[in-house]
Amino acid sequence: MIEIEKWALAAMLALFYSVICWFLFRRRGAATITSDIVVAYASQSGRAHLLATKTAEAFTGAASLCALNQLSAEDVCGIRTLYVVASTYGEGEPPDNGAAFSSVVQQLQPNALSALEFAILGLGDSHYPEFCAFAKSLYGTLHARGATPLCTLLEMDAANPRLEQQVLTQWQRQLQAGDGVFSFKAADQLVHPTRQRAAICERRLLNPGSPGAPMYFLSLSVNQGAVSYQAGDIIEIFPKNNASSYESILAQLEIGGESLTDTQGGKRTATEIAATRDLYRVSLPSLNNKTDNLKWLNNLPELAPRQYSIASAGNNKSLEIVVRQHIADNGTLGVASGFLTEHTSLGDELEFCIKQNIEFHSPDADKPLILIGNGSGIAGLRAHLKHRACSGGAPCWLLYGERDPQADRPFAGELTEWLACGVLEQLDCVFSRDPTHPEYVQDRMRANADLLEHWLQRDACILVCGSRLGMGEGVHSVLEDILGLKTVARMQAEGRYRRDVY
Ligand SMILES: Cc1cc2nc3c(=O)[nH]c(=O)nc-3n(C[C@H](O)[C@H](O)[C@H](O)COP(=O)(O)OP(=O)(O)OC[C@H]3O[C@@H](n4cnc5c(N)ncnc54)[C@H](O)[C@@H]3O)c2cc1C
Ligand SMILES: Cc1cc2nc3c(=O)[nH]c(=O)nc-3n(C[C@H](O)[C@H](O)[C@H](O)COP(=O)(O)O)c2cc1C
Repeated sequence: MIEIEKWALAAMLALFYSVICWFLFRRRGAATITSDIVVAYASQSGRAHLLATKTAEAFTGAASLCALNQLSAEDVCGIRTLYVVASTYGEGEPPDNGAAFSSVVQQLQPNALSALEFAILGLGDSHYPEFCAFAKSLYGTLHARGATPLCTLLEMDAANPRLEQQVLTQWQRQLQAGDGVFSFKAADQLVHPTRQRAAICERRLLNPGSPGAPMYFLSLSVNQGAVSYQAGDIIEIFPKNNASSYESILAQLEIGGESLTDTQGGKRTATEIAATRDLYRVSLPSLNNKTDNLKWLNNLPELAPRQYSIASAGNNKSLEIVVRQHIADNGTLGVASGFLTEHTSLGDELEFCIKQNIEFHSPDADKPLILIGNGSGIAGLRAHLKHRACSGGAPCWLLYGERDPQADRPFAGELTEWLACGVLEQLDCVFSRDPTHPEYVQDRMRANADLLEHWLQRDACILVCGSRLGMGEGVHSVLEDILGLKTVARMQAEGRYRRDVY
């Protein structure tokens, strides 16, 4: 073979290899669409994902289930019916696993989706100004490309469980019209999950002397039976108001010890009811008879449960959390963080339920983990470390950021042990108020870009937990700088980059 033929052959082989690699690479993280009915979810903390799973089950094998980001332009053009369950996050933003889809659809010709029928169930919370914003924008985007809506946008409002149930019934009817049999009972668990009771059995300040707000470790022991959860899951705690926040209201209403049947059907005193009602900026009514005053109180909405990333794993009798006090400008403590850290005593009971957070569950044990977080985000990261420590698996790298190198070292003893026994292969704790070397986790990531890429070549997954603003955004943009926008989006679609940020 003459020299030029050798070069031509080598070039052809290289081209063939690149095409194969590109194809394999491109399809990783893509959806497996095997039917013309598709149920897609965009979910940050698992609720929309679970509802989408129940929706797909309604079609007993005839529907494909995937994250919205996994759908390509070709996929969406080939589908007959698309059901979407989409939550909204941040300030009216899409969840991570739905963020890329709108631009995929926007690139299509105006009538490209004229053969597509769709229905959207939006999940949101009307306490946020941009209620269900992502579901609304998705509805508009699909409609603008010629797709036909099967019904108006259905909006589930987490602030109003009674209405949520009605919307779920409308969704059920919609699926029935498409021959789906939707198990309302199973989905209803997501609206009214069974509450369990636990007692606070340990409470410890994690950061004495910190320039930041106090952060506590709490251990909760389950009173009856067991609790089922895994690393990545979230506990929803039903807090109670501190007496100081409702005593003046009761005094003005001239009620207190009187009892009445509350909205859940039990007999409770006005004081007990006031402890569980959302008194945020309520204006007192101009009522003056006790019965009306009691009715007004009873009809106030219940306090919303507050979410905490579970910090433990591998124990079904107890669970652990980390709670940072929320302190308002006037010095008052937030309802739940005050309830959990100051207004209860050891042994006191509380009500909770577990929120399965599929989006933040552990990847396969053979995948190394790059765990990144700050502040109370140590909770979700510790759960994954505990899980690896109990069940084994590839090693982890923890990048954790706090303020003060002396005071802000939660779980320092445990982390040192995990470093010694190999659960942790690398530990980077950085401090924004370090007098000699102030740093954020995203700065340390940038400084260690080569190492990060090396871990990713070892098939590592990235898990981020803690503040969405500042840390979460900073980490995301450094990842995009180091790896490129497309790689980061692909890693999210593949579940190799997961976030529990709030
Ligand atoms: C997925 C997730 C995981 C989390 N994990 C953790 C964790 O591990 N550790 C941790 O410490 N925190 C965590 N949080 C935050 C936690 O859920 C609470 O938001 C935090 O503890 C403050 O709650 P609070 O009841 O003390 O404050 P609140 O009393 O809720 O006060 C907070 C702010 O909300 C305002 N507000 C109060 N009530 C209302 C209302 N009805 N409508 C509108 N605004 C209102 C208040 O004025 C105040 O500005 C997590 C949040 C999420 C979403
Ligand atoms: C940090 C955070 C930000 C949120 N932002 C919004 C919002 O802007 N608009 C809205 O309607 N709901 C918002 N929500 C409420 C969620 O959409 C709602 O809780 C939903 O049920 C979550 O579903 P998921 O678990 O599938 O992500 C927000 C919730 C959290 C925790």
